[in-house]
Amino acid sequence: MSDEALESEVILATLKSRCSEACFGLVELEVHNSIGSTNTHVTAKLEEPGNQIHLCLAETQTAGRGRRGRRWVSPYGKNIYMSIGLFLRLPMAELGGLSLVSGICIVEVLRRFGVKDVGLKWPNDILLAGGKLGGLLVELRPPEPGVGNEAGRGVGVVIGLGINLSLSPEDASPIEQSWSQLSSRLEVSRNQLAGELAGEILTAIERFASAGFAPFMALWHEYNLFAGREVEVLRGDERIRGIDSGVNDRGNLILDTETGLVECHSGEVSLRVPDTP
Ligand code: BTN
Repeated sequence: MSDEALESEVILATLKSRCSEACFGLVELEVHNSIGSTNTHVTAKLEEPGNQIHLCLAETQTAGRGRRGRRWVSPYGKNIYMSIGLFLRLPMAELGGLSLVSGICIVEVLRRFGVKDVGLKWPNDILLAGGKLGGLLVELRPPEPGVGNEAGRGVGVVIGLGINLSLSPEDASPIEQSWSQLSSRLEVSRNQLAGELAGEILTAIERFASAGFAPFMALWHEYNLFAGREVEVLRGDERIRGIDSGVNDRGNLILDTETGLVECHSGEVSLRVPDTP
């Protein structure tokens, strides 16, 4: 099942049942056999005029991108490689919580499918059984100016998600961290999963656009696998060690350190459990 070919009709039928009519009406779906990166493709689509929601999936990516300049391993026909591109009329500074909201959506969908022990690692890793099951790459395009009395379209947002359904040892050999795959827990239709994920994320974005990150904070705390644990944030050459004390209403991580509370922005950081002395 998880290696079924991607089919636009099935993805759209699932999506239609999972998001508002207004939202569904704006969706333009593209399914590619092979593409460089779905995020790069959708970023280019946002240069075109209009207010469509661009949804792009691919069977394989030849230049899949992860956070911090890493490559995202994207073997053919097995996993989910999906990007959603749209415009939001919100200040850039308020969009930090969007990747956390998308992570929450992925966990919600997978838990609905019965995978109860899937959870989140700040800022945007999806973990299962201690290994990385998926990740999110959220990219923003600064707002263009309005013309005359016409407001511009707002900030262009691209949300890219990769989820490992099935990886062979050869596929996984370039991955430099512990990883996991959904097929160890669940046989799922990729098309149905893709439609559910896109629907959940688009519905959550509608809420985020009107109410910000605050309504999602309780779910983040529920799904955060590191809550109350000692963690280390790597920010450039700096290492900040402290207790993971959750996130604030902008999605920034609060670390309780020896010198007080430190707020970490998700930009170019990574979080890990420190080596035991
Ligand atoms: C991470 O490093 O954890 C983020 C991984 C994001 C991968 C996805 S796969 C679909 C989309 N296209 C890309 O090139 N990257 C994202």
